[in-house]
Amino acid sequence: VTLRERSLDAVADHIQAGGAKNVLVMTGAGISTAAGIPDFRSKDTGLYANLARLNLPYAEAVFDIGYFRDHPEPFYILAQELYPGKFYPTISHVFIALLAAKGLLFHLFTQNIDTLERRAGVPGDKIVEAHGSFATQRCIDCKTPYPDDKMHEHVLAGNVPRCEECNGLVKPDIVFFGEALPDEFREKAHYAAAADLVLIMGTSLSVHPFAGLPGMIREGVPRVLFNMERVGGLGARSDDVLELGDCDAGIRKLADKLGWRDELESKWRE
Ligand code: OAD
Repeated sequence: VTLRERSLDAVADHIQAGGAKNVLVMTGAGISTAAGIPDFRSKDTGLYANLARLNLPYAEAVFDIGYFRDHPEPFYILAQELYPGKFYPTISHVFIALLAAKGLLFHLFTQNIDTLERRAGVPGDKIVEAHGSFATQRCIDCKTPYPDDKMHEHVLAGNVPRCEECNGLVKPDIVFFGEALPDEFREKAHYAAAADLVLIMGTSLSVHPFAGLPGMIREGVPRVLFNMERVGGLGARSDDVLELGDCDAGIRKLADKLGWRDELESKWRE
């Protein structure tokens, strides 16, 4: 057992005693709901519960590569709404940047495609975008990259962009169901075993292989969950800490205990 008790106080003490120099953070859509981006699986507000207007055979089809080949329009209707640019980082995003600024962030594994961690100031070389992002795009057939400025125009207009070489469909480099995760995820997943503290925030841990990461953490390494609900069997180990509720509220509580609160709030307002 590493923590003296299963509480944020004990986590803060652990960090301040120098016991956590390689903090691994894992994030999901729940850290961006406060920025105005819906998550996927929340019962009333989640994206999957609100896609009736797109006439999908099933909700996840909008991110399914097989479905996209025949019906790209629903994805582009959503992309118009979710496109990065109009959203701002939350306190949770900024806390990860603060960890990096203090030299404590080992790596961030995110499932999010909104690039808000980057916008919050988390260094790019610390981020593993496990499900890709909206930052680049290419043809799904000949794989030719498609220019950013044209992509931007098409997405904002709600149009489906077509490859300039072969007229194939263009898709942002976000991972759809039926596609492999980026090489970077496979190359770096084993980092999980070298973490000395893990913060898991805003994810239902329901999509594999990402959902397998917490199981790769060594026994005795504290795993702290900041989430509305208990997920992924977290809480089963003696060093697991469950901070159930809004993640920004939980993060502010931890920042208070660390004496980082003012710094966090001013960094957020920048
Ligand atoms: P989910 O929508 O599955 O889960 C979001 C989690 O965050 C849920 O457990 C919510 O209760 C919680 N949550 C929401 N708002 C919160 C808040 N303000 N504070 C704390 N918790 C909050 O989203 P992900 O786990 O990210 O993949 O979903 C994983 C993957 O499934 C996504 O990357 C996406 C999706 O299909 C692809 O599209 C490939």
